[in-house]
Amino acid sequence: MNKPMNEFEHNIVWAQVATVSDFPEDGGMCVQVENQQIAIFNFARRGEWYATDNLCPHKQQMALSRGMIGSHGADCEPKVACPFHKKTFSLKNGQCLSGDDLQIQTYPVKVEGASVFVGLVKP
Ligand code: FES
Repeated sequence: MNKPMNEFEHNIVWAQVATVSDFPEDGGMCVQVENQQIAIFNFARRGEWYATDNLCPHKQQMALSRGMIGSHGADCEPKVACPFHKKTFSLKNGQCLSGDDLQIQTYPVKVEGASVFVGLVKP
């Protein structure tokens, strides 16, 4: 289970989005939260969960939930590769790992029992 690790934790509103069994193992699923499409990833072989925007900023495709996830570099940075042109993004901080000046938003995820929650920062 991932815990949010930032000083804004008290400003986070948790939205229950699905149950663990709704997600493919080592894959992602798109959920709609407050008119936002969010890609949530069950990185089962690492025992970790991640959430990002579903929108790939490269060509504005709603696609990241269908991307391949894996590990990048010596630090084993968790990453997702967009299925369209294979731009890759860190699942931890949203940075583009394929050398482009692109960024995606990431969100905290928590699992309680069978329920999966994504955290959104209060406006
Ligand atoms: S639209 Fe995602 S890499 Fe091009």
